[in-house]
Amino acid sequence: MKRMLSGIKPTGQLHLGNYIGALRHFVESQDEFEMFAFIANLHCITVPQDPAELQKNLRDCVALYLACGLDPKKATIFLQTDVPAHAQLGYIMCCHTYLGELNRMTQFKDKQAHGETNLSGGLYTYPSLMAADILLYDADYVPVGDDQKQHVELTRDLAIRMNNRYGDLFKVPEPLIAKTGARIMSLSDPSKKMSKSDETNKGCIYLLDTEKQARKKVMSAVTDSLANVHFDPENQPGIANLMQIMSSLQNDRPFGEIEQEFAGRGYGDFKRAVADEVCAKLNEIQGRYNEILASDVIETTLKDGAAKAGVIASAKLAKVQKAIGMEIVSK
Ligand code: AMP
Ligand code: TRP
Repeated sequence: MKRMLSGIKPTGQLHLGNYIGALRHFVESQDEFEMFAFIANLHCITVPQDPAELQKNLRDCVALYLACGLDPKKATIFLQTDVPAHAQLGYIMCCHTYLGELNRMTQFKDKQAHGETNLSGGLYTYPSLMAADILLYDADYVPVGDDQKQHVELTRDLAIRMNNRYGDLFKVPEPLIAKTGARIMSLSDPSKKMSKSDETNKGCIYLLDTEKQARKKVMSAVTDSLANVHFDPENQPGIANLMQIMSSLQNDRPFGEIEQEFAGRGYGDFKRAVADEVCAKLNEIQGRYNEILASDVIETTLKDGAAKAGVIASAKLAKVQKAIGMEIVSK
């Protein structure tokens, strides 16, 4: 069985972009692949966090993984810091990453370009840690949204570099980027991606939004004056984004079908239909989320997940350390 691995940072609340771009693919893949899904709590402290809020987000994040349909009997679900090999191999990967490579990473460059000050060293070297996350498990595939593709490509380069230098250590992974929904845009500004760091709070639908909040955000989504439900991301980015959301929530329904259904009808009708679809999904997720929070399934899931992941990760770390010559081998 091929192996698949992905992680999500527990910064802020998970949103519809995370669900459509990443989580739903984890769920769809868990029968076909050996799935590893982890909460990237080392990655999230690359930017300042409020401790109490972070702690709450961690629980919510696990609960939402499960509520979205990840099944701990099929997938290995764990917290990154419960498996210390991530930080250990992360450091080793960092020592094999060139500054030029880190300088090319657009996520860091964007933050710098926005004039953000006091960016941390951890944020800069984060792609090396992400490479370790993936390579520890010999993952074949890494399902991520569009913004993470560059990091998975760097992971491939690092794997090849280390394999050349030290012998066959790592499987070279492939990113899996969905055709639809890999980049869900903000509802209030369709030129930006839907993100946890949405200051206005109008463009991002959180998985734990109330029905009223979610509906209001969809109904006030920025569109255009062409009055035509047509998939044209260049000229009608707002409508194209709503179509992506609808299509993804309806099992990747073809855009042509959506265009036909709403031909000659106003944007109001279309937005109401998108809002219905979004609210139905949120209702389903939140129903399960509340049951999960009231049970002890989070604790047992993480304990079992860390045990399973830990065995694989420590064996790989030991192999790497030995290959590099970092161990004393007894005579
Ligand atoms: P993050 O919230 O940055 O930790 O992202 C977790 C996962 O969700 C990654 O695979 C991202 O690529 C994906 N993701 C985040 N935002 C979006 C978005 N607006 N559209 C699609 N996928 C997204
Ligand atoms: N960097 C990813 C993000 O910001 C999260 C992540 C960390 C990840 N390690 C990973 C994703 C390994 C896939 C595989 O969304």
